[in-house]
Amino acid sequence: MYNSKVIGLGKYVPERVVTNEELTRYMDTSDEWIRERTGIEQRHWVAEGDGNTTAVMGAKAARQALERAGLKPSDIDFIVFATLSPEFFFPGSGVLLQELLEMPTVGALDVRNQCSGFVYATAVADQFIKTGMYKNVLVVGSEIQSTGLDVSTRGRGVSVIFGDGAGAMILTRTEEKKKGLLAHSLHSEGKYADQLTVKYPASSFPSQKYFEHLQQNPDETGHFPYMNGNFVFKNAVVRFQEAIAEVLQKAGMSKEDLDLLIPHQANLRISQFIQKMFGLKDHQVYNNIQKYGNTTAASIPIALTEAWEAGKIKENDIVVLAAFGSGFTWGANLIKW
Ligand code: UT7
Repeated sequence: MYNSKVIGLGKYVPERVVTNEELTRYMDTSDEWIRERTGIEQRHWVAEGDGNTTAVMGAKAARQALERAGLKPSDIDFIVFATLSPEFFFPGSGVLLQELLEMPTVGALDVRNQCSGFVYATAVADQFIKTGMYKNVLVVGSEIQSTGLDVSTRGRGVSVIFGDGAGAMILTRTEEKKKGLLAHSLHSEGKYADQLTVKYPASSFPSQKYFEHLQQNPDETGHFPYMNGNFVFKNAVVRFQEAIAEVLQKAGMSKEDLDLLIPHQANLRISQFIQKMFGLKDHQVYNNIQKYGNTTAASIPIALTEAWEAGKIKENDIVVLAAFGSGFTWGANLIKW
């Protein structure tokens, strides 16, 4: 068995900055409410005509990661692309990325695990490397949330939270047994699928029928994200803790070994709660939700890239990525850098 380690990180966010103040023009909300409840000060949203799509943003982040890894697109053996906001119902964004990067006909797998998409994608990529099937795997998380939100008072409980962006990570094979990705935790609980969801149109309510239904029922909101915020919050704080504890235990470590926690940026209050539970200091938990909002599958690779750029990750550090979200799905990855 081989092991895999991170050799390149990249990120991209669209240029357009949407402040909390700007949102007050579209809905009954306030900068104070958003900051107090979520920690968010601004987010980046794609702009009409800026050329960004989910795969385009993923490709921008991937090019940066490739350059930093000293690799060409043709050196990549496999793509794992995590997103809940693909360009199309099908095919997924992974194949579009393969084309944009002018890569050979390597495999491209889309992961649809919402906020924990990047954690799942990382675990999947690691398995391909561990078994020896592939050497270099490109893992991408990219989201365009803004175009699917209900940007009105009706949707304010959800729409103020989400941002657009992309992050990328390149994993490569290593012979070092005690370095790189050492443990994963992956879980799901489908009984809560309807607690954080975009339901329609889909196979259970196909487009044509749904559009007819929408004409008769203009107040229908099934095509917008729905979140039972309080319930999701309560589950998140428990599941985050379990996933982090599980990867530490699997790697034979304790919370004292942890150097840096990169939580999915769902809500600053969730990150602060987890920090307190594990007795971590401020510099041991990386948060950037203030600038980007919740970018779902992109939040961890964006945060990981920023933390690395800021010199917060050193050789041999123990870094844990952890996420919870729609599904419910949750999990964590433990990396010895
Ligand atoms: O990333 C995937 C996982 N996601 C999460 O983990 C998110 C978890 N949940 C949360 O982060 C929080 O539940 C929210 C930030 C979404 C909401 O915060 P909250 O403290 O749970 O607020 P709430 O939903 O209980 O709403 C409190 C009040 C309500 O008014 P009333 O009923 O008390 O009069 C809402 O209507 O705040 C109102 N409200 C708003 N007011 C101003 C909801 N959204 C807004 C808003 N601006 N944007």
